[in-house]
Amino acid sequence: MFNKKVWTLVSIIFMIITVNTVISTKVNDQPTIKYKNVPSEIPFSMDSMFLQLMYSYTAYCIPEQIVNWTCPYCIYNSSVTPLLVTQLIDNDSTNTFGFIGITTDKKSIVISFRGTEMESLDNWITNLNFPKSEPYPGFPGALVHSGFNRAYRNVRNIVHSGLNFTLGVCPTCEKLIITGHSLGGALAIMAATDIYESQLTTLPLEMYTFGSPRVGDVAFAEYFESTVITNYWRIVYDHDLVPHLPPMQLNFYHLPTEVWFNNASDPSQHIVCNPTGEDPSCSDSLKVALNVFEHLAYFGISKDLC
Ligand SMILES: *[C@@H]1O[C@H](CO)[C@@H](O)[C@H](O)[C@H]1NC(C)=O
Ligand SMILES: *[C@@H]1O[C@H](CO)[C@@H](O)[C@H](O)[C@H]1NC(C)=O
Ligand SMILES: *[C@@H]1O[C@H](CO)[C@@H](O)[C@H](O)[C@H]1NC(C)=O
Ligand SMILES: *[C@@H]1O[C@H](CO)[C@@H](O)[C@H](O)[C@H]1NC(C)=O
Ligand SMILES: *[C@@H]1O[C@H](CO)[C@@H](O)[C@H](O)[C@H]1NC(C)=O
Repeated sequence: MFNKKVWTLVSIIFMIITVNTVISTKVNDQPTIKYKNVPSEIPFSMDSMFLQLMYSYTAYCIPEQIVNWTCPYCIYNSSVTPLLVTQLIDNDSTNTFGFIGITTDKKSIVISFRGTEMESLDNWITNLNFPKSEPYPGFPGALVHSGFNRAYRNVRNIVHSGLNFTLGVCPTCEKLIITGHSLGGALAIMAATDIYESQLTTLPLEMYTFGSPRVGDVAFAEYFESTVITNYWRIVYDHDLVPHLPPMQLNFYHLPTEVWFNNASDPSQHIVCNPTGEDPSCSDSLKVALNVFEHLAYFGISKDLC
């Protein structure tokens, strides 16, 4: 069954790459972004990244295992700081899911969003190639992907009340970390932007996304950077296809800063890319041989252990 699914994906991806190659002859039309170009305040750390990957993958597990912190990623090894889960984020109408928790040292609040599940992954990837955009509610001059915006809006009230509650029970917390894999990465971006424009907290934000698609246009990227944060690490593992979607030719543009792991046979090898969002010497340098297998197993760790 898995194999059949995988072959469907392979053929869809082949089609996507073909379509993209046909529309993408004018790469030099890339818009120039007016970023502040502020380097991140925190250095990139492999240990922090691994921890956030485990928190991101945890969102794929069943709620009972998340709440009592017994899921496979929760107990992956002793580097994974357990979380005290304060709120499940859930809306069946768009199948949006995530959770809020506090690290056991009571220093950080973590919000994690689930990505697309295996059964709907091929449709999701196909749809990313034909995206619909709409004005971003917090800054109507910017366009964002309609599906991501709506999925987040459906859980926005729960995120607000859950975060407010969590802030109340953790006066010692020093930062807010938002994370997610795949679609979960796109939701993390929507949540971070909303939380800071809603002024729910003044805690510094750190964000990690893994294999996130692009969520909006250049204006959204500029807005995000002007209002929200610089401590965002956008992790791209090797030839993962999803960060290449929706295509730049359809006016989608990534947020900085990408960290590209460019050698699957050496999981520590990586490039901290320039802060433009779309560094042409990072994963944008790949034009062929993109794949979904690396999307499903960052650093060789499968997202399907639950
Ligand atoms: C965690 O929850 C599951 C499902 O409710 C239950 O079977 C399991 O015993 C719980 N584990 C712990 C350690 O509480
Ligand atoms: C946990 O696993 C990660 C990924 O394999 C590794 O980088 C880290 O060193 C491990 N931690 C421990 C304490 O073994
Ligand atoms: C879930 O989303 C639907 C559709 O937007 C919305 O009507 C409903 O209020 C949401 N449920 C919760 C609990 O927020
Ligand atoms: C936020 O939480 C505090 C308690 O910590 C409560 O008094 C307040 O009403 C909450 N605000 C919202 C908007 O839920
Ligand atoms: C990838 O890493 C392996 C192991 O360190 C090394 O042998 C190989 O040359 C690297 N490949 C590239 C393209 O850098």
